[in-house]
Amino acid sequence: MDNRPIGVFDSGLGGLTSVMALKDIMPNEKVLFYGDTARTPYGSKSPDTIREFSKQIVKYLIGKDVKMIVIACNTATSMALEMLKDEFKDIPIIGVIDPTVRRVVGDSPKSVGIIGTKATIDSNIYADTLSKYDFKIKTYSLACPAFVPLIEEGIIDNEIMDLTIKYYMDDFVRSGDFDSLILGCTHYPLISSNINRIYPDLRLYSSSAEVIRDVQTILTERDMLAEPNSYRDRYYASDLSENFLRMTDHMFK
Ligand code: DGL
Repeated sequence: MDNRPIGVFDSGLGGLTSVMALKDIMPNEKVLFYGDTARTPYGSKSPDTIREFSKQIVKYLIGKDVKMIVIACNTATSMALEMLKDEFKDIPIIGVIDPTVRRVVGDSPKSVGIIGTKATIDSNIYADTLSKYDFKIKTYSLACPAFVPLIEEGIIDNEIMDLTIKYYMDDFVRSGDFDSLILGCTHYPLISSNINRIYPDLRLYSSSAEVIRDVQTILTERDMLAEPNSYRDRYYASDLSENFLRMTDHMFK
C-alpha cells in the first residue's frame, strides 16, 4: 500500500483527460497534476526543448514525493520518455504510447489511422511502435495542429470544430482504408464525440485512457495501490490562464 499521490503531467491541460480516466478506474488514488500552460503547445517545439521541459517537470514532481509519474502527453512521451526513464531510475515513469498501441494490437486491426500533433506524427513513434508489435499492420498518420488551440479556447461543441475536423480529416479518412483511429493527443478525447458523429464507422482509441490501465497494473504488481485516504488532489499550472479555468470547468462539471 502506498498513499502518496500519482504525478501526472501534460504540456497543457489535455492531460486532465487521463486524470478523469484514473479517477474512474481507481477512485482511491490521489493525483498531483502539472500542466505546463505557460509553455504549451509542445507539439510545435523542437525535441531538445520538449526533453528539457519534461525533465524540469519530472524533477518538480519527484520533489513533491509522488509515487509514480504518468506522462499524459503524447508529444512529451514521443520525445522524452526513454531519456526520463534512464535518468530517473528510482521511480516508475510511464507514457501514453505503448499502452495504447498494445490495446489496439490486441484487437487485431489490419490497418490503423493515427492523428496527433506535428511533433508526435513527425516522430513516427506510433507507426514504429505498432510495427514492433505487428509488422503487418498498415498505418496512416496525420498531424492536426489546429485542434489543440481550438480545444484550449473552449471551441469544442460547435460548427467551427466540426469544420476543422472535416478540413483535416475528410481526405485522410476517405483515402486511407482503416477503421481504427488512435487519438494520439491527450486533448483529442474532448472532441471524440465530434469525430464519432462525423465518422461513425471509425473505432476510436484514446491514449489518455489506455495509459491508466497500465498504471493500475504497475501499482498492483508493486503493492503500491492507495487505500481510501485524506490527501487532496492537487492541480498545478505554470500559468493560471483563463483557458486553464475554463477547461477545468468544462472537464469537471
Ligand atoms: N498534450 C499534447 C499531446 O498529447 C498536445 C498539446 C501540445 O502540443 O502541447 O500531444
